[in-house]
Amino acid sequence: MKPYGNFKKGILNIGEAPGEQEDATGKPFQGRAGRALQQAYSEVGIDLFEDCLNINAVSCRTMDNEGNNRTPTNQEIAHCRNRVFNYINKYKPKIIVLLGSSAVQSVIGGRWKKNLGTITKWRGWAIPDREFKAWICPTLHPSYVIRQSDAPEVYTVWMQDLQRISDLVSTQFPTFEDESKYVKIISRIEMVNVLNKLMTSDKIFIDVETTGLKPYNKDQHKIVCISICNAKNNVYVLPAPETDEELDALKQLLENPNVGKMAHNMKYEDTWLKVMYNINVNPWIWDSMIASHVLDNRTEISSLKFQVYINFGIADYDSAIEKYLHGIDDKNANSPNKIMELVANPIKRKELFTYCGLDSLFGYRLALKQKELIEC
Ligand code: URA
Repeated sequence: MKPYGNFKKGILNIGEAPGEQEDATGKPFQGRAGRALQQAYSEVGIDLFEDCLNINAVSCRTMDNEGNNRTPTNQEIAHCRNRVFNYINKYKPKIIVLLGSSAVQSVIGGRWKKNLGTITKWRGWAIPDREFKAWICPTLHPSYVIRQSDAPEVYTVWMQDLQRISDLVSTQFPTFEDESKYVKIISRIEMVNVLNKLMTSDKIFIDVETTGLKPYNKDQHKIVCISICNAKNNVYVLPAPETDEELDALKQLLENPNVGKMAHNMKYEDTWLKVMYNINVNPWIWDSMIASHVLDNRTEISSLKFQVYINFGIADYDSAIEKYLHGIDDKNANSPNKIMELVANPIKRKELFTYCGLDSLFGYRLALKQKELIEC
């Protein structure tokens, strides 16, 4: 089945799979679900076949033994992924609308290394996806909305998503740069100087990388590095302090009442710094994980990685590092992870420190965005 539509507004709709009518005509969105989508789009000023190009996550009709439509398997979706990606790269849509979980599985599933979760978690965001240089907008599949006709809130939410898509047509796609150039990896010699310099910041975002989840077993666990971001384009990554002078400089900064502290899940940084260094971080002014939850109380959306993707469009800046940060023993949540393997290798150490820096840099930018939304 070929892409179908005149694509005047640069919107690419990705459905699930052809149904009976689509199979018969060779065109997507010809049956009941297609008509529902066409009608709903028209209410927000979008013509399904004039303004959009239309394809499906899988190209062939998937059926059960009785000849009824069935949801494609992840394997079938993976098999057709290249074709979908080729269309995206060929047509360069401004907006990619993912209708339902099969489309999410197709476009996000192959690049999202963590648990993909359900459409409920993905719908409604306008993701500025850097790889495709397009807004990715997951929303509900029209067949699902039809099936939920006795739950009017489902239709309301769907229409809100479609309105947002319509508003995006005239929204410029952001320009992005490689933020790793803003990460300054600091040597032990420079450390005290940098910490002293940071004393003039009004607020800083901090992130620690550690050998495990909880610090209580001091012989087994330690802090490996600390990143401190004090501006949108500036973050320092320090090795863990060792001398009294280094520890004192860190304590002075983190306990300075004029420097507000922010983190993503601040209780983590707070506990590690207290237990390991006897530092009582003060004052905490922002937790971007809690703020994510305040802004949207759906489950599985408040991790930093998810927030970085939906806000800044990077699906996997952590993929090379993440696997080293899980405890080696599945049965013991606080077992040591493999972070020291990274530290032992100069190239991997740099990757780890850069990753730690990006966590703080994106956290800082996220906190600024959230503050604007919450405090306005
Ligand atoms: N028609 C399509 O082509 N795809 C869908 O997902 C639904 C209806």
